[in-house]
This record gives sequence, C-alpha cells and structure tokens, in this order.
Amino acid sequence: MKIFIDTAKINEIEEAFSWGIIDGVTTNPTLIKNAIDELKNKGEKIDIETYIKRILEVAKGCPVSLEVIGTDYESMYREGILLYEKFNKIANNVVIKIPINPSLEEDGNFDGLKTICRLSEQGIPVNVTLIMKVEQAILAAKAGAKYVSPFAGRIDDYLRNKIGWKDFKKDEYYPEIGIKFKDETINDEGIVSGVDLVRKIVEVFNKYKFKTEIIAASIRNSRQVREIAETGCHIATIPFYVLKEMLVHYKTSEGMKKFVSDVVPEYKEIFYK
Ligand code: E4P
Repeated sequence: MKIFIDTAKINEIEEAFSWGIIDGVTTNPTLIKNAIDELKNKGEKIDIETYIKRILEVAKGCPVSLEVIGTDYESMYREGILLYEKFNKIANNVVIKIPINPSLEEDGNFDGLKTICRLSEQGIPVNVTLIMKVEQAILAAKAGAKYVSPFAGRIDDYLRNKIGWKDFKKDEYYPEIGIKFKDETINDEGIVSGVDLVRKIVEVFNKYKFKTEIIAASIRNSRQVREIAETGCHIATIPFYVLKEMLVHYKTSEGMKKFVSDVVPEYKEIFYK
C-alpha cells in the first residue's frame, strides 16, 4: 500500500518525506486554508504560488493533488488546465482533483464527470474527490480517472449523525463492521462504515480490473489505516497526526526504556571510547 500525506503544511510534508515513507501528497481547499491560516498567525507573508511550488519540489517524483475551486464544467476544466500548465513544469507531479458531483444542492450534475473525461483524455491525471458511494467510484473510473478518493471518515461521521450521535471526537474509531442501533446495523444504502465503502470499491475494481487507483481518504486514526490496508486498497492518504499515531505503542516505549537502562559500560565502549 502506498502512503500519501494528507496536508498542505509544508513543514509536515518536509518532515514526513524525510522519514522515507511517503509516496504522494493530497491537498484540498480546507487543507490549504489550514496551512495558510497557520502561517498568517505566525505573521508570515504568503505567496501562494511559491508555496505550492515548494510542495511540488519537496514531493519530487511523487504525485501531488491540487483541487479546482469551480462548480461547473467550464470553470473546473479551465482551472484544471491552468493548475496543470502553471505547476506541472516544476516537478512533473501534478494531479488535478475534481469533485465527482460539484452540485451545491442535494442533486446531481454531470459536470464533474465531463471534466474528468476531458482532462483525462488530454493525459492529465485526475483524482476524483468526495466519493461517498461505490456507484460514484465506478462512474469516475469509467470517465478515465487516474485515482478515486473515497472519504472513509466522513462516511463514519454520516452514519453516526443518522442516529443523532453528536458527541464523538473527530479521531474516534468507528468499527469496519459497523455499529448496531435498535437491532439494525447503521448503514447508508448497505454501507456500514467508511472502511466498508473502501473495501467494496476495492472488490468491484478488482473484479473488473479497473486501472483507476483507489486512495482511501478522510482517515481519522491508525486503526482505520490498518483496516484500510487489509482491504488491499492501493493508497491511503493520511494526516500527519495519524502517521504519528501509527508509530506509537506503549510496549515499544517500555521496551526502549529497558534497553537504554540495560546498556553496560563494556557495550557502550564500542560506540563511545
Ligand atoms: C483528501 O484527499 C481529502 O480531501 C481529505 O482526506 C478529507 O479529509 P477530512 O474528511 O478529514 O476533511
């Protein structure tokens, strides 16, 4: 499984790349807002184009997803081309992120699919975002997407909200097999958790040998990463705090303390004379 880092914060991207585990970067307008707000709070001046160029350079050789901001075909297509032409020359690693359904109402329009299709035909890699159901992933793959991004954590949020469960923490674990409420597993048209959504997309894509890669997104905790890995999903895009959580275990820390305290002077001498 490839690991992407899900952030627009350059310090996090640089740090995570230095660990040798990162295969790509995903950003979205909210992640860019968080990064910019943090810099503004520190009183730093921001030149957004230079900032994005730095991200692309740090991620050299690894794909970086940049999202459009429009909500109709004309604007999304124009923005996709603009982002690609402006930034892909820096390190040849730009992927354009397009929403599966850009409608701001609870209905659908096909402007996302049209944009995915046009950009893909021109050889521009597209990451289709806001995938909340298997059916959307199938449409995105058929339109030629290089990646689809199912939002595991937001599906878990949605399932909790369905039963009026409000007091949960963003990083709280939600089991892959779902949660029972009044004798029925809470579900969204048969999908019982975010990881279940990812698993079902993986199954369908494998069945039909779709070339589109699946990026499990909206990941909230390390246990969810393990369950995502078990599905055979190609990629998980992971926030910085979850990467840290993946590293930590009580018994590892306890073991470290014991090893350090057991170092005898004779052994130490090998390293420090
Ligand atoms: C990445 O591609 C997604 O935009 C991101 O994972 C969304 O995460 P969130 O649901 O925690 O905002």
